[in-house]
Amino acid sequence: MSYAEVYDSWKSDPEGFWMKAAQGISWFKPPSKALFDENAPIYEWFADAEVNTCYNAVDRHVEAGNGMRTAIIYDSPVTHTKHSISYAELQTRVASLAGALRAKGVEKGDRVLIYMPMVPEAIEAMLACARLGAIHSVVFGGFAANELAVRIDDAKPKAIIAASCGIEPNRVIHYKPLLDGAIDLAGHKPDFCVIFQREQEVAHLQEGRDFSWHAFQYGVEPAECVPVAGNHPSYILYTSGTTGQPKGVIRHTAGQLVALDWTMGAIYDINPGDVFWAASDVGWVVGHSYIAYGQLIHGATTIVFEGKPVGTPDAGTFWRVIEEYGVKALFTAPTAFRAIKREDPKGELIKKYDLSKFKTLFLAGERADPDTIVWAQSKLGVPVIDHWWQTETGWAIAANPMGIEPLPVKLGSPSVPMPGYDVHILDEGGHEVKTGEMGAIVIKLPLPPGTLPNLWNAQERYHCAYLNTFPGYYETGDAGYKDEDGYLYIMARTDDVINVAGHRLSTGAMEEVLASHNDIAECAVIGVADALKGQLPLGLLCLNAGCERDDADIIKDVIKLVRNKIGPVAAFKLAVVVDRLPKTRSGKILRATMVKIANGEDYKAPATIDDPAILDEITTALAAIGYPGS
Ligand code: COA
Ligand code: AMP
Repeated sequence: MSYAEVYDSWKSDPEGFWMKAAQGISWFKPPSKALFDENAPIYEWFADAEVNTCYNAVDRHVEAGNGMRTAIIYDSPVTHTKHSISYAELQTRVASLAGALRAKGVEKGDRVLIYMPMVPEAIEAMLACARLGAIHSVVFGGFAANELAVRIDDAKPKAIIAASCGIEPNRVIHYKPLLDGAIDLAGHKPDFCVIFQREQEVAHLQEGRDFSWHAFQYGVEPAECVPVAGNHPSYILYTSGTTGQPKGVIRHTAGQLVALDWTMGAIYDINPGDVFWAASDVGWVVGHSYIAYGQLIHGATTIVFEGKPVGTPDAGTFWRVIEEYGVKALFTAPTAFRAIKREDPKGELIKKYDLSKFKTLFLAGERADPDTIVWAQSKLGVPVIDHWWQTETGWAIAANPMGIEPLPVKLGSPSVPMPGYDVHILDEGGHEVKTGEMGAIVIKLPLPPGTLPNLWNAQERYHCAYLNTFPGYYETGDAGYKDEDGYLYIMARTDDVINVAGHRLSTGAMEEVLASHNDIAECAVIGVADALKGQLPLGLLCLNAGCERDDADIIKDVIKLVRNKIGPVAAFKLAVVVDRLPKTRSGKILRATMVKIANGEDYKAPATIDDPAILDEITTALAAIGYPGS
């Protein structure tokens, strides 16, 4: 079937389409129907089924006689370690960890926070939770203690599973002190913590509260898979919104299973036994869907790579991994390719490796700039597929479905909507814009299986953030247009979210941190264009009257403050002191205009501007720190 036929078959019979996709999943009790819309606009999928994610990702493959197949390949250039875990080994390890968690009281519905680097134990921890029906919430290692504390207070975990440390190329990340600090800061305290002691740094364990990963499993009864309802939350993943309080995106069990299983074949063209590598981190949605779950549900092989595209040890690392494990498809963020291209512009290192098994490169997480795509196409000689999705959707809204029908690639476009997504471009008044015209990108409700049904403990916020602006539609927060062939172009965010090295960050959250500094009266954070990371945050600071401290000292302070409060991942290293911020007459800061000035783009002062002269002051201040750059 062609893409158009598949998409039409979904559109004409969504119920039939998803019930058919559901046949890829092993149910304890099959669903009686796909969509549950009784509480619209809150929609659920396969709600009355009984199922278990870990059973589908692990046990069923062993039962089918594929226990010796490789489930996880661990490749860690930063610790010089490599090993593989078969499905049978994974089953033993996960059942044992789940048994130990159960022995300490973790049950269906309990939350377990996971704070781990890129080691296979992170996936085992996720699967152990899934085995028990516990709801995991993985927190990315690059966040500081304060961010971890915010998530602990929101998810209220019974247990926290962490590693003693993470390894960045230039330093060891002391996870355990960060965790201890976060638990001190948080109002909610977990009953216990499980610490995976790494040989690079053994952490101090707090008597009575902390248990070591191995000792804690000694002599426990392995746990079986606990059936859960189709609409049981499988995880909470926090993502940046407009404010400092992150949004807890929920994923339901059955929808996630059906959708991810479907995407493995249809979008990524991955069959059971194939090796599919997503070079991301388990702390992000890409890591949830395509490091931890998608491959395993589908009986394929996943890679846990603890390294960077460059510097571990060089820009040839990706090609080495592809050759060594026979990777069929790689999924990463464009920024990784920009980093590689910068180090090895001629692609000399690529020639050193046998990439004959490599079929497709998938990019997502940020806009894929045409230069990077063209470079990758010419150097790798395989299709380079941009696809667009979000933490909220859990899988691609728009893609080029390599397992259905590879469509012509159009540079700058993540191609066409996937079945399940009826994508529209609306103007501010909620009217459909013309082909080629920019507008807010929205999706007609219901969203398909595997997307967010709600926010954790924040239904009102769910409505406000996603459903209220355009009734009947889900607001993606992205702006863009559709061309005459139905290809989508994702051009910008409509909110205060920026994308730094494929990491989604909130400028609002950074502003809250800056504003907490004693000498700062007012501030704004904007995302300025960066050749490597796509965007970088830049702070504009107005100081309190009478402040006599040196601007440079205050800038140093705030850079440290953001690193300590949000974390190094914020990559906040640019700030400038200004006298005033440009605003509308109603007091709204003109961030978008300042972005244009910093990027050297043409701009027109909005008619509602309070004092146009401030824009000249901003231009001068930005020029003093090198913006716009060359
Ligand atoms: N734990 C702790 N700290 C982390 C971290 C982690 N898991 N990941 C990143 N950091 C730190 C980095 O060490 C860096 O610290 P520094 O300011 O001391 O240098 C900071 O956070 C910013 O990280 P990053 O923006 O990633 O920059 P980088 O210079 O370390 O690496 C790239 C640049 C392009 C190589 C890197 O961003 C990359 O590989 N990106 C791939 C994108 C990706 O995986 N996206 C996920 C969505 S698909
Ligand atoms: P995250 O939730 O971290 O995955 O970030 C999602 C956001 O990243 C989207 O809403 C977009 O703004 C941006 N994004 C992700 N993929 C793409 C893409 N292929 N093209 C353009 N923007 C993208």
